[in-house]
Amino acid sequence: MGPTLQFPSGFAWGSAGSAHQTEGDNVNSDWWEHERAPGTPAKEQSGSACDSYHRFAEDWHLVAGSGQNAVRLSIEWARIEPSPGEFSSAELDHYREVIGTAKDLGLVPMVTLHHFTNPIWFARRGGWTSSESAEVFARYARRASSALSDLLGDVCTINEPSVVAVVGHLMGYFPPGMTDLVTTHRVTVNLLRAHAAAAEAVRAAGARAGLALSIMDFAPADDTPEAWRSRDYLHHWWAGAWLEALRSGRVAGLEIADEHVPGLAGADDFVGIQYYTCLVVGKGAERGARAKVADPRPRHDVPEAARSSERVTQMGWTWHPDGIGHVIDEVADATGLPIYVTENGIATEDDAERIDFVARHLRQVHAAIGRGADVRGYFYWSYLDNFEWNEGYRPTFGLIAVDRATMERTPKPSLAWYGAVARANGLD
Ligand code: FCB
Repeated sequence: MGPTLQFPSGFAWGSAGSAHQTEGDNVNSDWWEHERAPGTPAKEQSGSACDSYHRFAEDWHLVAGSGQNAVRLSIEWARIEPSPGEFSSAELDHYREVIGTAKDLGLVPMVTLHHFTNPIWFARRGGWTSSESAEVFARYARRASSALSDLLGDVCTINEPSVVAVVGHLMGYFPPGMTDLVTTHRVTVNLLRAHAAAAEAVRAAGARAGLALSIMDFAPADDTPEAWRSRDYLHHWWAGAWLEALRSGRVAGLEIADEHVPGLAGADDFVGIQYYTCLVVGKGAERGARAKVADPRPRHDVPEAARSSERVTQMGWTWHPDGIGHVIDEVADATGLPIYVTENGIATEDDAERIDFVARHLRQVHAAIGRGADVRGYFYWSYLDNFEWNEGYRPTFGLIAVDRATMERTPKPSLAWYGAVARANGLD
């Protein structure tokens, strides 16, 4: 007898990580600088991270040995292009080995070209605020995709571009620490241009392209028209405008003139969804924005328990498993594309809680598939405890613990549990 909730055959069961968070010593990146800047919000420095730059084979052995059949990883732009237009064949060879080792162990690799970090030289030239940023990123995407073409399958061009735009340029919490709405929206357009150009490079290399989008279940703080309006704006900036742009090629409803991005409509083979929690939006969060959100997403109930801090993770994020189903439905409706859950996970010290969290979310993914969504895989964040950006090493998301003094890896019970789900292609 198989499991009660059987997933489609060929489903990708994996877990995810990123270069800066796991490799260590990413010294040419803007995050390395950010972690050291005076007054930085970073609570810790990444330092040698999990030393996965050297220990990736051990990581892949543990992931594959558990029963998982896929892994999501990123390659580091700051290493591959250490100065403008100069590409390091040694680093490209390194990533050939990283990806090739995963494949040899039976893990289908999902490679991300950009996961938050930029080369310092790119940041100095204005980063994503620069009108040249898309073409500069495209040059890297072309080089990396052609050098790795025989190893690539599904490729995420940019990880959570709305986080890069909003958290970096409106909330000032991530590099470059800006707090300007119009700049945030210019950056949004630049990131979508960069994505369109990178997707073209990925497809030219014979691989398939997608964006990995952070999408929360957005809820108003109360049932007033003002709070709903604020919720609709935040949702639009974070997800709605991006989904509409992928479908139509048009970026609209931002605090800048609407814009058509050539090559964007139809550039994608899949959409990656990164879902963790819901976001409760209070009145005024739109900061005086005036553009009209043409097509606010459907309004559904987000239960009180998910809005309150009744049950929160080490990140302070509330539990809201139903939300992953809402988000999958939304992306399926908006784009009609195949979907991967490219990240979902929990930071907790209690590994039994992790198992409960994943099981509850997987049941909702299964239900969304039953409603017709074409979900092709699920990647738990993360295979390892790693560097959680400004929060440092305190939040532990991993299926595997890392002793950072010795770099010893210790599987948690959730690794075997999740591997068994992968082997059974389902759960009860
Ligand atoms: C996502 C990031 C990932 C990780 C998780 C917890 O926003 O893509 O790197 O930090 O959150």
